[in-house]
Amino acid sequence: MHPATFKTGPKQLLQADEVIIDNYNKYYAALKSPAVLAGLSFEERLYTAHEIVEGVKREDMYFYRRTNEDFNMRCEGNNAVGINARPVNLASNDYLGFTKHPVVIKAATNAIQQYGAASGSVPLLAGTTGLHKRFESELASFLDFEKAITYNSGYAANYGLLTALLTASDVAILDMSVHASIIDGCCNTNKIYFSHNDPTSLKIALMKATGYQNKLVIIDGVYSMDGDIALLDEIMAITKEEHAWLMVDESHATGVVGGQGKGTHSHFGLSEKATILTGSLGKALGGSGGYVAGSSELVSFLEITSRPFIFSTSIPQHCAAQLSAALCLLKTGDGALDRLWSNINYFKRGMDEIGFEPSQAASAIIPVIIRDEVKLLNFCSFLHHNNVFVNPVFYPVVSKKKSRIRISVTALLKEDELSYSLDRIETAANKFNIV
Ligand SMILES: Cc1ncc(COP(=O)(O)O)c(C=O)c1O
Repeated sequence: MHPATFKTGPKQLLQADEVIIDNYNKYYAALKSPAVLAGLSFEERLYTAHEIVEGVKREDMYFYRRTNEDFNMRCEGNNAVGINARPVNLASNDYLGFTKHPVVIKAATNAIQQYGAASGSVPLLAGTTGLHKRFESELASFLDFEKAITYNSGYAANYGLLTALLTASDVAILDMSVHASIIDGCCNTNKIYFSHNDPTSLKIALMKATGYQNKLVIIDGVYSMDGDIALLDEIMAITKEEHAWLMVDESHATGVVGGQGKGTHSHFGLSEKATILTGSLGKALGGSGGYVAGSSELVSFLEITSRPFIFSTSIPQHCAAQLSAALCLLKTGDGALDRLWSNINYFKRGMDEIGFEPSQAASAIIPVIIRDEVKLLNFCSFLHHNNVFVNPVFYPVVSKKKSRIRISVTALLKEDELSYSLDRIETAANKFNIV
């Protein structure tokens, strides 16, 4: 057990505390679609949103935009295993710890000194440097695609690709759990959803989708909320049979699954590729930005049609340089991927031993499904006051029966941090009758 002295104890909600749950549901409804505030004046919209956030904060139940100081304020001295009372971070997507890797930091620092702190322009004008081009070509070769193009976020990559490619005469056939940036990117086209990671449901959706000029099936390689891996082999075969294109968002797969962290194709040993790959560069690769990989023709098409690419400042040069260094670490294998998987397996074993349902997660994302929103908040509050950094996920982003804590494991976590977190999770699970 690790000694901990807390200035204040966690607040505990009662089942009757419906106002706060209501506020959380409204909070998530607005996150999912700001349109829920339509029909109000500008002032009313802002006031309503402000009240939702303040209502949750007043109850000391606001678990977003927290900083290390928010934790330290609650704790006396060096209370938890995190050095100097730093919280144990179970919410980061820096899966390989590359944001703190000395080789990555050195590459970024050298590039800043040599090229300045930012690109200063959009990519088509003065915002593309040799470092950008080098990284794009290294990334394409790492992913085994003809070409890659970078955007300033993974969101912009998905949105920019899909709004450019899909029109009112086409149809997007979407796994119902794809990322918000994909759904937003399909705003100009027709959408048909199929059941999550269900090849039979995909087949039916594709057969029903008649009368469209083009069909694009869209999946995530690893799903950001459930951490499960797409059944890419089966999905690719069906997509081919039905003459559709396939796009895979590899944001949580690149650097995590497959040999050398090459992603979902490698995980399944597939030599044939999806038509288009996209992803965030802000997760395992430890940088920021996003990419689309595909044919040379696709990249040329995006260069002249994709508005978030054309009209937005490119990622800084140092970011391109550090991403090249991160790719190099992945290719040469510096041990981070092994450490990540050893931590994932340790943590999953611990969760099984506590008595949580074995999860389908096969990646660094481990959801803890807590089917009761009051218990979920109490659980989160308890961990927050015990210096374990996790975030809750609520309806309507997930269904009420699937409200959860989204835990992510990284290579940086030490064994004592993992065991401390598991110990606190077990205490909370017993306290709130979760297992
Ligand atoms: C599956 C998925 N795609 C795209 C994105 C967007 O990436 P970025 O944060 O780089 O904008 C995210 C998360 O952030 C994600 O989870």
